[in-house]
Amino acid sequence: MSHLRGIFIVIEGLDKAGKSTQCARLVANIRDKLNKPVVQMRFPDRTTPTGKMINDYLKGDTEVDDHTIHLLFSANRWEAAPRIRELLLNGTSVVVDRYYWSGIVYSLAKERDDLTFKWARGCDIGLPMPDRCFFLDLDPTLARQRGGGYGEERYEKEAVQLKVREKFEFVFKKEDHYHVTPLNANMPVEQMEKMLLKWAESYFQQATLSGWKIDSVAPLFQEPRQEEE
Ligand SMILES: Nc1ncnc2c1ncn2[C@@H]1O[C@H](COP(=O)(O)OP(=O)(O)OP(=O)(O)O)[C@@H](O)[C@H]1O
Ligand SMILES: [Mg+2]
Repeated sequence: MSHLRGIFIVIEGLDKAGKSTQCARLVANIRDKLNKPVVQMRFPDRTTPTGKMINDYLKGDTEVDDHTIHLLFSANRWEAAPRIRELLLNGTSVVVDRYYWSGIVYSLAKERDDLTFKWARGCDIGLPMPDRCFFLDLDPTLARQRGGGYGEERYEKEAVQLKVREKFEFVFKKEDHYHVTPLNANMPVEQMEKMLLKWAESYFQQATLSGWKIDSVAPLFQEPRQEEE
């Protein structure tokens, strides 16, 4: 088993969809039930220098130009890319709370003519490509009622979330949903947890059968087939 590379899973979704809850449970289950090494990460990682700038922006303490903040979010992922690749190639799986899809959709939700899908996606080309992204889909009117409601940060408003949901749909369509499994997040926590664990288990079986070797190159992010903006 140890010769296999790890699997790279992303959990995406709107605010309050249950991403952090499911990431934590999936990581615990992969480690304790499947007995595999696994690491949890999140984006943005607010602990790094770029993460601190992002944090100030999200809290509303600073104003940052829309293109600049987009690039900072991307840089925050790039900073972690070598570690992700190294972990995967060393046989450790990685579960990530948000990734480049969030990076794109929050910027597209600003509806600027000079901030296109192609531009927004361009700076992430070359990041390690996840094996699978689970998109936790939840109606923002339901999300609002969870855990004391939306917080005070910049994007934590229902109108923004509705726009972001529309943009997720747009981006997944552009990418032909190739790496993405949408899940209805309006289900009990335990039910979703079981579903994700079952999926992870079958993915490990598949990986074993098809022999993902440690020397196999981690899949890299490709241009989408359609080139239009
Ligand atoms: N399936 C669920 N059904 C009902 N409530 C849930 C479910 N999953 C999570 N919650 C609750 O909703 C709130 C938000 O969950 P969580 O923090 O996991 O979401 P998130 O997607 O990480 O949110 P954020 O975008 O703010 O980081 C928490 O109070 C959590 O307990
Ligand atoms: Mg969270």
